Amino acid sequence: MIIETNNLTKTYKLFEKEAGLKGSIKSLFNRKFTYKTALSDFNLEIKEGEFIGLIGPNGAGKTTLVKMLTGIIAPTSGKLSVLGYHPNKLENAFKKQYAVVMGQKSQLFFELSSADTFLLFKELYGIPREEFQRNLDYFVKIFEVEKLLNVQVRTLSLGERMKMELIVALLHNPKVLFLDEPTIGLDAVAQKQIRMFLKEVNEKRGTTIILTSHYMEDIKSLCKRCVVVNRGEKIYDGCTDALFEKYQTHRKISLSFLEETNFVIPENCTMVEQNPLKVIFMVPISNSQEIIYSLMKKYTLSDITIEEDEIGSVVERIYNDRLVKQ
Ligand SMILES: Nc1ncnc2c1ncn2[C@@H]1O[C@H](COP(=O)(O)OP(=O)(O)O)[C@@H](O)[C@H]1O
Ligand SMILES: [Mg+2]
Repeated sequence: MIIETNNLTKTYKLFEKEAGLKGSIKSLFNRKFTYKTALSDFNLEIKEGEFIGLIGPNGAGKTTLVKMLTGIIAPTSGKLSVLGYHPNKLENAFKKQYAVVMGQKSQLFFELSSADTFLLFKELYGIPREEFQRNLDYFVKIFEVEKLLNVQVRTLSLGERMKMELIVALLHNPKVLFLDEPTIGLDAVAQKQIRMFLKEVNEKRGTTIILTSHYMEDIKSLCKRCVVVNRGEKIYDGCTDALFEKYQTHRKISLSFLEETNFVIPENCTMVEQNPLKVIFMVPISNSQEIIYSLMKKYTLSDITIEEDEIGSVVERIYNDRLVKQ
């Protein structure tokens, strides 16, 4: 196993402050704490070469898990081992073997160009010149970013910057790559390019990748196996296709009407939002086509959108299913 956790638990200690200045002063002398368990008794085993997806609603504990696996924060209890190391010790030999990219945080220097940043990392990680050049050429080619290399990082678009973040993370040939929401906020084209890039890195280089994303498309198209986290607990660990087949059972439909309409919801559907000019409701995938056709005949629509089920509702179904089984 390249990664192993055993009853991994993280409890954050939060300082509670009473409202207002008076409250602040009072709190200084009478400190009150609350505790928040972000991850509890988490067991996970990942084999070398896997591309595994971590999904779950906001606040589920995904980032907390990634931070512990990369040594950014220490666990409250439990065991973990990554590449045979205890990440929190941050030994140099360990640091050279993994990389982490967080969508919300940058490793680049905004005043420098990407080319200069790459050179800095080469020195920092002691990457041999030939290896550095070979890697750089390879990544720059798949991402088609030659022309952007000498541009100041601050002027890059979000998608362009994320490509540079991935390149910088991979220059030293890490065995494991942790990605926390790398495609957040990116347009569809950039998302797709990043997906293709990651697929290539996993397949051709054998890099083990742990990806958190709340875009289900990322997980579906890349990860054979996925782990679903909810309120700090693992509620699913297994085949991604099977998960979506079983639990992604609905589509979300939004209809806008040309004039005020008294909409009657079709059978087996559930309403999410309704007003005289717009309705949003969930339709079972199995007969969604049929329902959409009949609605288009029945009402005068100005717009219609069909979306996939969100992660929140998928998680809810897994959760309810577990309650029934217990
Ligand atoms: N530094 C922190 N201090 C206190 N609570 C935190 C801290 N970081 C995260 N949390 C809480 O822990 C829970 C899990 O957060 P996080 O791991 O960021 O979830 P996710 O990445 O799945 O959205 C949330 O309830 C969050 O508010
Ligand atoms: Mg997160």
